[in-house]
Amino acid sequence: PPAGCGRIAPASSELRAGVEQMRLPDPLGFGTLMAPIMALAYYRDGAWETPRLTALEPLQLAPHAQALHYGQAIFEGMKAYRNLGALFQSPALLFRPYDHASRFNRSAQRLGMPRIDEEVFVETLEQLVAHLDKLVPERLAQSLYLRPAMFGITDHLSVTPSTEYCFVVVATPSDAFFTTPIKAWIERRYSRAGAGGTGNVKAAGNYAASFAAAAPLREQGFHQLLWLDANSRTHLEEFTAMNVFVRWGETLLTPPLSDTILPGITRDSLLALAGPLGLAMQERPIAIDALVEAIGGGADIEVFGCGTGAVIASVEALGDESGLRLPLPAPSVAPLLRKSLLEIHHGLAPAPKGWQWPV
Ligand code: COI
Repeated sequence: PPAGCGRIAPASSELRAGVEQMRLPDPLGFGTLMAPIMALAYYRDGAWETPRLTALEPLQLAPHAQALHYGQAIFEGMKAYRNLGALFQSPALLFRPYDHASRFNRSAQRLGMPRIDEEVFVETLEQLVAHLDKLVPERLAQSLYLRPAMFGITDHLSVTPSTEYCFVVVATPSDAFFTTPIKAWIERRYSRAGAGGTGNVKAAGNYAASFAAAAPLREQGFHQLLWLDANSRTHLEEFTAMNVFVRWGETLLTPPLSDTILPGITRDSLLALAGPLGLAMQERPIAIDALVEAIGGGADIEVFGCGTGAVIASVEALGDESGLRLPLPAPSVAPLLRKSLLEIHHGLAPAPKGWQWPV
């Protein structure tokens, strides 16, 4: 078994043999091919058991388990990339695992769930990735996408937090979430998050709340909603599954963090990379009307989304319910930022401490 902290019990030799035999398809897609090993731990009597690596199998849950009725469920999106450089000796690199661990605990805290020791969280990810080394794809922008999740499993219907929880990490060798530019729908009817709500954490329900709005639009070729603020519907918040950036002339803009915006780790990484690429960076509110008017008037603007799954996805058109169909010019800065970030992901370029985590 791979070296590790010794705390996380390794998977059986049968399971490891199963991984050895797997072949990666081409294309990989996103989130459909699941690795046969997962990490699993239960929280009972006020304490977490040590996570173990086990076969990916259905879980047994009471039909009245707390998470199913009241949505006490959170997750993270993380990636392990194939190390393609000479800066590290290891075969794979996790990206910013401690930042994901601390966001996971912020989400847990917001939903009244127990925290998980950040060392244990990262060691679990390390061990899982070490076992799944064969499934970390070789190509730039492909990765082993990792999905830690926690949910309340107590079988009672009183509207109170669970006393028992399940922590799982599943893994899926994947392409980036989008492999071509996207069309985004300016959502003027529904909203994603209200002040004081759960918009700034990864509550599972934040994503289900987008489905009714997004489903009919997919038939019209739109890939993501562009959410506006819930109060006035005048300013950009984020996309369905990504933070939003706008390059307006020489300046890169993104809405400032608030209690309605997810503090994206890719967002944070881009803020750090923009300066060295010679871009002025501003976290400030972006008015949708001014943006649409400027794009329509031919201003030098590009719009893109960023997130762990997507890395960076350029927007090629915006639409809305009034019939707006606004094409955007070809991006210039998004491909540069994407390249810089992917070079860091794959160990081809150095990065701030803690971003590249050899496994
Ligand atoms: C990610 O980008 O990893 C996310 O968690 C967002 C999405 C795929 C649901």
